[in-house]
Amino acid sequence: MALVSLRQLLDEAATGGYGVGAFNINNMEQLQGIMEAAAETASPVIVQASRGARKYAGDRFLYALMVAATETWPDVPVVLHQDHGNSPETCATAIELGFTSVMMDGSLREDGKTISTYEENVAVTREVVDFAHARGVSVEGELGTLGGIEDGVGSGEVNLTDPEQAEDFVARTGVDALAVAIGTSHGAYKFSRAPDKEVLAMDVIEEIHRRLPDTHLVMHGSSSVPASLIDRINAAGGSMKPAFGVPVEEIQQGIRHGVRKVNVDTDGRLAMTAGAREAFRDDPAEFDPRHFLKATRQAMREVVAERMVQFGTAGHAGDYSPASLEEMTKRYGVPIPAA
Ligand code: G3H
Ligand code: 13P
Ligand code: ZN
Repeated sequence: MALVSLRQLLDEAATGGYGVGAFNINNMEQLQGIMEAAAETASPVIVQASRGARKYAGDRFLYALMVAATETWPDVPVVLHQDHGNSPETCATAIELGFTSVMMDGSLREDGKTISTYEENVAVTREVVDFAHARGVSVEGELGTLGGIEDGVGSGEVNLTDPEQAEDFVARTGVDALAVAIGTSHGAYKFSRAPDKEVLAMDVIEEIHRRLPDTHLVMHGSSSVPASLIDRINAAGGSMKPAFGVPVEEIQQGIRHGVRKVNVDTDGRLAMTAGAREAFRDDPAEFDPRHFLKATRQAMREVVAERMVQFGTAGHAGDYSPASLEEMTKRYGVPIPAA
């Protein structure tokens, strides 16, 4: 199946009442792990690349990998999405390359650090929407700011999305999906304690969904950062501190209130690092890199498949060739969120 647009995928997800994971990639094993998980669980999927990923892999390599993925797994509907585009130029080069969706993150200025004004955000997002829609490409915008700074990107300041402003923003920009700020941040260290509603404002999502029932909402910084992955990393020689991510039940709650795209990067990073460290620990005499790379791919596959079941995506590969939802529940032992 050719790459599909974000709008197509999320409209379908809204009809089915489920969420779709947007998983970040940087290399072949990560993408293969995601696609294997999607095929195994019969899930549609969003694959996203940050500016850093495009730089790391190189645009041509990244796109060629995506083409190979669609050819290898023709039954999996897949979106190729630019994560956190910092300027119309970044979005335009992604579109020229063949991305089917872009995020224009106008909540920050082009430096990816300075918080922009509301009018600047509206103007830059509208510009990208006009350019992208003329080419059949979807656009995600962001209103409010996430916490944290990762790889020099981010303002470091949480500004929750104002629901009233969100209505105006969607009307003026015409975005296909809206990223909302509810207290999450990128990376493993999101909260200093298990999050409660003081720090994770799920009520903001509910209010935005009440005002904008037809707008697809996006949760960034949505890795759950499982203690089991941190334990695996540490048991294999790592030294991570305890960390708190976004509990899966909160994401499921968001999905019941209009969240359709769930951004997950850190959980994949943790899984791949756990796989690599265990391979090095368990087979210290091994020097064929395929050995540890296979372990990273397998670990990626497992965490992504688990999320696909938890977000209710499993069995919805376009509602084309559904693997039974009951079968998925049985296999992974996790409840599927009610629509
Ligand atoms: O946007 C945040 C993602 O975790 C991507 O991170 O810029 O290090 O690739 P990155
Ligand atoms: P995490 O760091 O929680 O995986 O968030 C990823 C993200 O929001 C990418 O845009
Ligand atoms: Zn993000």
